[in-house]
Amino acid sequence: MNATVTARAHTNIALVKYWGKADTELMLPQTSSLSLTLDQFYTDTTVTFDDQLTADEVTVNDQLLSSEAAKKVHNFLNLVRQQASRTSFARVTSVNHVPTAAGLASSASAFAALAGAASRAAGMDLDRTALSRLARRGSGSATRSIFGGFVEWEAGHDDLSSRAVPLIEDVTWPIAVVALVLDPHHKKVSSRQGMQSSVTTSPFYPAWKQIVADDLDAIKPAIRAQDFTTLGETLETNAMRMHALTLSARPPFSYFNGDTLTAMQTVKGLRAAGLECYYTLDAGPNLKVFCQTADVSAIQERFARQFGSDNVIVAHPGPGIQFLNKA
Ligand code: DP6
Repeated sequence: MNATVTARAHTNIALVKYWGKADTELMLPQTSSLSLTLDQFYTDTTVTFDDQLTADEVTVNDQLLSSEAAKKVHNFLNLVRQQASRTSFARVTSVNHVPTAAGLASSASAFAALAGAASRAAGMDLDRTALSRLARRGSGSATRSIFGGFVEWEAGHDDLSSRAVPLIEDVTWPIAVVALVLDPHHKKVSSRQGMQSSVTTSPFYPAWKQIVADDLDAIKPAIRAQDFTTLGETLETNAMRMHALTLSARPPFSYFNGDTLTAMQTVKGLRAAGLECYYTLDAGPNLKVFCQTADVSAIQERFARQFGSDNVIVAHPGPGIQFLNKA
Protein backbone atom coordinates (compact mmCIF):
# COMPACT_ATOMS: atom_id res chain seq x y z
CA MET A 1 0.00 0.00 0.00
CA ASN A 2 1.33 3.41 -0.94
CA ALA A 3 0.76 6.00 1.76
CA THR A 4 -1.03 9.16 0.73
CA VAL A 5 -0.29 12.10 3.00
CA THR A 6 -1.71 15.62 2.99
CA ALA A 7 0.01 18.49 4.77
CA ARG A 8 -1.06 22.10 5.24
CA ALA A 9 1.47 24.92 5.67
CA HIS A 10 0.89 28.65 5.98
CA THR A 11 2.95 31.38 4.44
CA ASN A 12 5.04 33.75 6.53
CA ILE A 13 6.11 37.35 6.29
CA ALA A 14 9.68 38.21 7.24
CA LEU A 15 10.22 41.04 9.74
CA VAL A 16 13.99 40.69 9.45
CA LYS A 17 14.60 39.54 5.89
CA TYR A 18 16.56 36.68 4.38
CA TRP A 19 18.25 38.16 1.32
CA GLY A 20 21.24 36.15 0.14
CA LYS A 21 22.68 32.66 0.18
CA ALA A 22 26.07 31.53 1.41
CA ASP A 23 25.62 28.12 -0.24
CA THR A 24 23.20 27.77 -3.15
CA GLU A 25 23.33 23.95 -3.18
CA LEU A 26 22.58 23.43 0.53
CA MET A 27 20.51 26.64 0.63
CA LEU A 28 22.43 28.09 3.56
CA PRO A 29 21.66 31.78 4.04
CA GLN A 30 24.14 34.60 4.58
CA THR A 31 22.26 35.68 7.72
CA SER A 32 19.58 34.54 10.12
CA SER A 33 16.06 35.94 9.61
CA LEU A 34 12.80 36.23 11.54
CA SER A 35 9.17 36.00 10.46
CA LEU A 36 5.54 35.79 11.48
CA THR A 37 3.50 32.90 10.10
CA LEU A 38 0.11 34.12 8.84
CA ASP A 39 -3.33 32.51 9.08
CA GLN A 40 -4.76 33.64 5.73
CA PHE A 41 -2.57 32.20 3.02
CA TYR A 42 -1.81 28.50 3.00
CA THR A 43 -1.07 25.52 0.79
CA ASP A 44 -2.51 22.00 1.03
CA THR A 45 -0.31 19.39 -0.63
CA THR A 46 -0.99 15.68 -1.09
CA VAL A 47 1.77 13.25 -2.04
CA THR A 48 1.73 9.57 -3.00
CA PHE A 49 4.79 7.61 -4.11
CA ASP A 50 3.64 5.08 -6.69
CA ASP A 51 5.69 2.33 -8.40
CA GLN A 52 3.37 2.52 -11.41
CA LEU A 53 4.42 6.09 -12.29
CA THR A 54 7.10 6.70 -14.91
CA ALA A 55 7.74 10.33 -13.85
CA ASP A 56 6.76 12.70 -11.05
CA GLU A 57 3.30 14.19 -11.66
CA VAL A 58 2.79 17.64 -10.20
CA THR A 59 -0.38 19.72 -10.35
CA VAL A 60 -0.95 23.05 -8.61
CA ASN A 61 -4.49 24.44 -8.47
CA ASP A 62 -5.54 21.78 -11.03
CA GLN A 63 -2.88 22.85 -13.55
CA LEU A 64 0.27 21.04 -14.56
CA LEU A 65 3.31 23.01 -13.42
CA SER A 66 5.48 24.94 -15.86
CA SER A 67 8.76 23.17 -16.56
CA GLU A 68 10.94 25.45 -14.37
CA ALA A 69 8.70 25.09 -11.32
CA ALA A 70 8.25 21.35 -11.96
CA LYS A 71 12.03 20.95 -12.03
CA LYS A 72 12.33 22.54 -8.58
CA VAL A 73 9.73 20.11 -7.23
CA HIS A 74 11.37 17.16 -8.98
CA ASN A 75 14.79 18.05 -7.51
CA PHE A 76 13.21 18.35 -4.10
CA LEU A 77 11.53 14.93 -4.46
CA ASN A 78 14.92 13.46 -5.46
CA LEU A 79 16.28 14.67 -2.14
CA VAL A 80 13.38 13.06 -0.27
CA ARG A 81 13.85 9.80 -2.22
CA GLN A 82 17.55 9.84 -1.40
CA GLN A 83 16.93 10.41 2.32
CA ALA A 84 14.16 7.78 2.46
CA SER A 85 15.96 5.26 0.20
CA ARG A 86 13.00 5.17 -2.17
CA THR A 87 13.05 4.99 -5.96
CA SER A 88 9.41 5.41 -7.03
CA PHE A 89 8.03 8.58 -8.55
CA ALA A 90 5.39 10.65 -6.82
CA ARG A 91 2.00 12.15 -7.55
CA VAL A 92 1.83 15.64 -6.04
CA THR A 93 -1.37 17.67 -5.87
CA SER A 94 -1.16 21.11 -4.39
CA VAL A 95 -3.83 23.74 -3.76
CA ASN A 96 -3.01 27.31 -2.77
CA HIS A 97 -5.61 28.97 -0.58
CA VAL A 98 -5.35 32.66 -1.18
CA PRO A 99 -8.50 34.80 -0.75
CA THR A 100 -8.27 36.37 -4.21
CA ALA A 101 -6.05 35.84 -7.26
CA ALA A 102 -3.62 37.94 -5.35
CA GLY A 103 -0.06 37.10 -6.23
CA LEU A 104 0.37 36.25 -2.57
CA ALA A 105 0.87 32.50 -2.97
CA SER A 106 4.37 31.80 -1.85
CA SER A 107 7.16 29.31 -2.17
CA ALA A 108 7.30 29.31 1.64
CA SER A 109 3.95 27.59 2.19
CA ALA A 110 4.45 25.46 -0.95
CA PHE A 111 7.76 23.89 0.04
CA ALA A 112 6.88 23.61 3.73
CA ALA A 113 3.73 21.62 2.83
CA LEU A 114 5.65 19.55 0.26
CA ALA A 115 8.40 18.75 2.78
CA GLY A 116 5.81 17.51 5.28
CA ALA A 117 3.68 15.50 2.86
CA ALA A 118 6.53 14.02 0.80
CA SER A 119 8.68 12.96 3.76
CA ARG A 120 5.77 11.20 5.49
CA ALA A 121 4.51 9.63 2.28
CA ALA A 122 8.05 8.27 1.75
CA GLY A 123 7.94 6.66 5.19
CA MET A 124 10.06 9.13 7.17
CA ASP A 125 8.88 10.51 10.48
CA LEU A 126 10.79 13.78 10.86
CA ASP A 127 10.36 16.12 13.82
CA ARG A 128 9.66 19.77 13.05
CA THR A 129 13.29 20.85 13.30
CA ALA A 130 14.28 18.21 10.75
CA LEU A 131 11.30 19.21 8.60
CA SER A 132 12.43 22.83 8.64
CA ARG A 133 15.87 21.74 7.41
CA LEU A 134 14.28 19.70 4.63
CA ALA A 135 11.90 22.53 3.60
CA ARG A 136 14.93 24.86 3.41
CA ARG A 137 16.26 22.81 0.50
CA GLY A 138 13.16 23.72 -1.53
CA SER A 139 13.01 27.42 -0.68
CA GLY A 140 14.76 29.36 2.07
CA SER A 141 11.65 31.07 3.41
CA ALA A 142 9.90 27.66 3.67
CA THR A 143 12.26 26.82 6.56
CA ARG A 144 10.27 29.20 8.79
CA SER A 145 6.77 28.07 7.69
CA ILE A 146 7.12 24.75 9.54
CA PHE A 147 6.43 26.61 12.80
CA GLY A 148 3.60 28.98 13.71
CA GLY A 149 3.82 32.49 15.14
CA PHE A 150 7.18 34.25 15.44
CA VAL A 151 9.97 32.08 14.04
CA GLU A 152 13.71 32.57 13.64
CA TRP A 153 15.67 30.80 10.92
CA GLU A 154 19.11 30.38 12.39
CA ALA A 155 21.60 30.71 9.55
CA GLY A 156 23.91 28.01 10.89
CA HIS A 157 26.96 26.88 8.99
CA ASP A 158 25.95 23.51 7.54
CA ASP A 159 22.93 21.38 6.67
CA LEU A 160 22.38 20.36 10.28
CA SER A 161 22.69 23.75 11.96
CA SER A 162 20.65 25.84 9.48
CA ARG A 163 17.09 25.43 10.79
CA ALA A 164 14.05 27.18 12.17
CA VAL A 165 13.48 27.78 15.87
CA PRO A 166 10.10 28.96 17.17
CA LEU A 167 10.26 32.14 19.23
CA ILE A 168 6.57 32.37 20.25
CA GLU A 169 4.25 29.87 18.55
CA ASP A 170 0.94 30.81 20.16
CA VAL A 171 0.81 34.53 19.69
CA THR A 172 -1.55 36.24 22.15
CA TRP A 173 -0.41 39.73 21.14
CA PRO A 174 -3.37 41.38 19.33
CA ILE A 175 -1.64 42.31 16.09
CA ALA A 176 -2.71 42.04 12.47
CA VAL A 177 -1.19 42.30 9.01
CA VAL A 178 -3.13 44.16 6.33
CA ALA A 179 -1.97 42.78 2.97
CA LEU A 180 -2.43 45.06 -0.04
CA VAL A 181 -2.72 43.50 -3.47
CA LEU A 182 -1.16 46.17 -5.67
CA ASP A 183 -0.15 43.91 -8.55
CA PRO A 184 -1.25 40.28 -8.77
CA HIS A 185 1.21 39.34 -11.52
CA HIS A 186 4.32 37.24 -11.26
CA LYS A 187 7.52 39.02 -10.32
CA LYS A 188 9.98 39.81 -13.09
CA VAL A 189 13.09 39.18 -11.01
CA SER A 190 12.63 36.12 -8.80
CA SER A 191 13.83 36.38 -5.21
CA ARG A 192 16.37 33.70 -6.03
CA GLN A 193 17.94 35.75 -8.84
CA GLY A 194 17.49 39.06 -7.03
CA MET A 195 19.23 38.06 -3.82
CA GLN A 196 22.11 36.47 -5.72
CA SER A 197 22.62 39.65 -7.69
CA SER A 198 22.61 41.70 -4.46
CA VAL A 199 25.17 39.40 -2.81
CA THR A 200 27.55 39.52 -5.74
CA THR A 201 27.17 43.14 -6.93
CA SER A 202 25.89 45.45 -4.17
CA PRO A 203 28.72 47.26 -2.37
CA PHE A 204 26.37 47.56 0.63
CA TYR A 205 26.06 43.80 1.15
CA PRO A 206 28.65 43.60 3.98
CA ALA A 207 26.74 46.33 5.86
CA TRP A 208 23.51 44.34 5.43
CA LYS A 209 24.93 41.45 7.44
CA GLN A 210 25.57 43.74 10.40
CA ILE A 211 22.14 45.37 10.00
CA VAL A 212 20.44 41.98 10.26
CA ALA A 213 22.40 41.06 13.38
CA ASP A 214 21.48 44.38 15.02
CA ASP A 215 17.81 44.14 13.95
CA LEU A 216 17.49 40.61 15.35
CA ASP A 217 18.97 41.85 18.64
CA ALA A 218 16.39 44.65 18.72
CA ILE A 219 13.31 42.79 17.53
CA LYS A 220 13.45 39.65 19.67
CA PRO A 221 13.15 41.49 23.00
CA ALA A 222 10.48 43.76 21.43
CA ILE A 223 8.43 40.68 20.51
CA ARG A 224 8.77 39.23 24.00
CA ALA A 225 7.83 42.59 25.59
CA GLN A 226 5.03 43.27 23.06
CA ASP A 227 6.69 46.59 22.25
CA PHE A 228 4.85 47.45 19.03
CA THR A 229 6.78 50.65 18.26
CA THR A 230 10.18 48.94 18.32
CA LEU A 231 8.78 45.99 16.36
CA GLY A 232 7.33 48.27 13.70
CA GLU A 233 10.26 50.63 13.36
CA THR A 234 12.66 47.71 13.10
CA LEU A 235 10.68 45.76 10.49
CA GLU A 236 10.03 48.81 8.30
CA THR A 237 13.66 49.93 8.33
CA ASN A 238 14.86 46.38 7.72
CA ALA A 239 12.60 46.02 4.66
CA MET A 240 13.78 49.31 3.16
CA ARG A 241 17.40 48.38 3.73
CA MET A 242 16.81 45.05 1.99
CA HIS A 243 15.33 46.91 -0.96
CA ALA A 244 18.35 49.23 -0.95
CA LEU A 245 20.33 46.11 -1.91
CA THR A 246 18.28 45.83 -5.11
CA LEU A 247 18.68 49.51 -5.98
CA SER A 248 22.43 49.28 -5.39
CA ALA A 249 22.96 46.10 -7.44
CA ARG A 250 24.49 46.12 -10.92
CA PRO A 251 22.33 46.26 -12.96
CA PRO A 252 19.99 47.94 -10.46
CA PHE A 253 16.45 46.66 -10.10
CA SER A 254 13.43 47.33 -7.93
CA TYR A 255 10.29 45.52 -6.83
CA PHE A 256 8.36 48.75 -6.18
CA ASN A 257 5.67 50.10 -8.48
CA GLY A 258 3.88 53.44 -8.29
CA ASP A 259 1.17 52.10 -5.99
CA THR A 260 3.82 50.74 -3.63
CA LEU A 261 5.15 54.27 -3.10
CA THR A 262 1.64 55.69 -2.77
CA ALA A 263 0.75 53.07 -0.14
CA MET A 264 3.95 53.84 1.79
CA GLN A 265 2.86 57.49 1.94
CA THR A 266 -0.55 56.40 3.21
CA VAL A 267 1.10 54.43 6.03
CA LYS A 268 3.06 57.54 7.01
CA GLY A 269 -0.14 59.60 6.89
CA LEU A 270 -2.00 57.07 9.06
CA ARG A 271 0.84 57.19 11.60
CA ALA A 272 0.78 60.99 11.65
CA ALA A 273 -2.97 60.75 12.33
CA GLY A 274 -2.31 58.54 15.37
CA LEU A 275 -2.97 55.12 13.80
CA GLU A 276 0.27 53.32 14.47
CA CYS A 277 1.21 51.02 11.58
CA TYR A 278 4.34 49.98 9.69
CA TYR A 279 4.97 48.43 6.29
CA THR A 280 7.16 45.71 4.89
CA LEU A 281 7.42 44.10 1.44
CA ASP A 282 9.19 41.17 -0.18
CA ALA A 283 10.27 40.49 -3.76
CA GLY A 284 7.18 42.14 -5.23
CA PRO A 285 5.19 45.39 -5.02
CA ASN A 286 2.52 44.24 -2.53
CA LEU A 287 2.81 46.06 0.79
CA LYS A 288 2.03 44.31 4.08
CA VAL A 289 1.05 46.68 6.88
CA PHE A 290 1.51 45.66 10.52
CA CYS A 291 -0.92 47.14 13.04
CA GLN A 292 -2.62 46.44 16.34
CA THR A 293 -6.05 44.81 16.10
CA ALA A 294 -7.77 47.81 17.73
CA ASP A 295 -6.79 49.89 14.68
CA VAL A 296 -7.34 47.29 11.98
CA SER A 297 -10.77 48.37 10.71
CA ALA A 298 -9.80 52.04 10.36
CA ILE A 299 -6.64 51.06 8.49
CA GLN A 300 -8.45 48.51 6.33
CA GLU A 301 -11.09 51.10 5.41
CA ARG A 302 -8.47 53.66 4.45
CA PHE A 303 -6.76 51.25 2.06
CA ALA A 304 -10.06 49.89 0.72
CA ARG A 305 -10.97 53.46 -0.32
CA GLN A 306 -7.59 53.81 -2.01
CA PHE A 307 -7.17 50.42 -3.73
CA GLY A 308 -10.61 48.72 -3.59
CA SER A 309 -11.83 46.42 -0.83
CA ASP A 310 -11.03 43.25 -2.82
CA ASN A 311 -7.38 44.24 -2.74
CA VAL A 312 -7.14 44.53 1.04
CA ILE A 313 -6.82 41.29 3.04
CA VAL A 314 -6.48 41.15 6.81
CA ALA A 315 -4.33 38.37 8.27
CA HIS A 316 -3.38 37.39 11.82
CA PRO A 317 -0.68 35.17 13.32
CA GLY A 318 -1.09 31.62 12.03
CA PRO A 319 -0.13 28.04 12.93
CA GLY A 320 2.71 25.75 11.90
CA ILE A 321 2.49 22.69 9.68
CA GLN A 322 -0.50 20.40 10.09
CA PHE A 323 -1.10 16.90 8.75
CA LEU A 324 -4.66 16.53 7.52
CA ASN A 325 -4.53 12.74 7.34
CA LYS A 326 -2.01 10.04 7.92
CA ALA A 327 -2.29 6.78 6.02
C1 DP6 B 1 12.23 38.77 0.25
O1 DP6 B 1 12.64 31.95 0.03
O2 DP6 B 1 11.62 32.90 -2.08
O3 DP6 B 1 10.74 37.03 0.88
O4 DP6 B 1 15.40 30.53 -1.03
O5 DP6 B 1 15.70 31.24 -3.39
O6 DP6 B 1 13.60 30.07 -2.72
P1 DP6 B 1 14.72 31.00 -2.30
O7 DP6 B 1 14.07 32.42 -1.99
P2 DP6 B 1 12.79 32.82 -1.16
O8 DP6 B 1 13.21 34.28 -0.71
C2 DP6 B 1 12.46 35.03 0.18
C3 DP6 B 1 12.97 36.43 0.22
C4 DP6 B 1 12.09 37.42 0.94
C5 DP6 B 1 12.54 37.61 2.38
C6 DP6 B 1 12.18 36.55 3.37
O9 DP6 B 1 11.17 35.85 3.22
O10 DP6 B 1 12.93 36.43 4.37
